[in-house]
Amino acid sequence: MVGEVMIDSDRLSARVAELGSTISADYDGRDLVLVGVLRGAVVFMADLLRAISVPCEIDFMAVSSYGSSTDSSGVVRILKDLDDPITGRDVLIVEGIVDSGLTLSYLMKNLKARGPASLEVCSLLAKPGRRRSDVPVKYTGFDIPDEFVIGYGLDYAQKYRNLDYITRLPEDVAPVP
Ligand code: IMP
Ligand code: MG
Repeated sequence: MVGEVMIDSDRLSARVAELGSTISADYDGRDLVLVGVLRGAVVFMADLLRAISVPCEIDFMAVSSYGSSTDSSGVVRILKDLDDPITGRDVLIVEGIVDSGLTLSYLMKNLKARGPASLEVCSLLAKPGRRRSDVPVKYTGFDIPDEFVIGYGLDYAQKYRNLDYITRLPEDVAPVP
């Protein structure tokens, strides 16, 4: 095991099930497209998708934020765009974690310009103490303290995405920023 567990897999699946029911109720009768933000949201997206009981489609975007491996700069580059248009559709961005909010703020502006019927965000984790951009996150799995975390899709230097729990990045792996 890597470090001390912050959120174990039972808590993760219980919360994902709750989010899935809430989203299913909110999007009943609408035209839902989940937009997963690669690569961190992949594990969460796969579980959330199966907790949603209303018809929905999925699409993905890959973005890269210029900056260090643990700090975002707000300058975002699109590495992979959506495959399909979202005009007139009910778009729900699915993120692994919102830290400063700068990546999401860019993404929302970009997607809003394509004229979706609605645009909301569901993030598994949020670090409210770090917010530098006022992004409205409608659905949050867990608020966590200002610590760098890994697991359940989230990486440090592309590793640890395969852990089935969320844990702090141990200090002997990398200096905590
Ligand atoms: P933001 O632009 O500062 O909100 O950063 C968002 C992106 O930074 C996320 O999509 C993650 O890829 C990455 N990130 C931020 N905090 C963490 C963390 O604690 N662990 C792993 N990745 C993180
Ligand atoms: Mg990362």
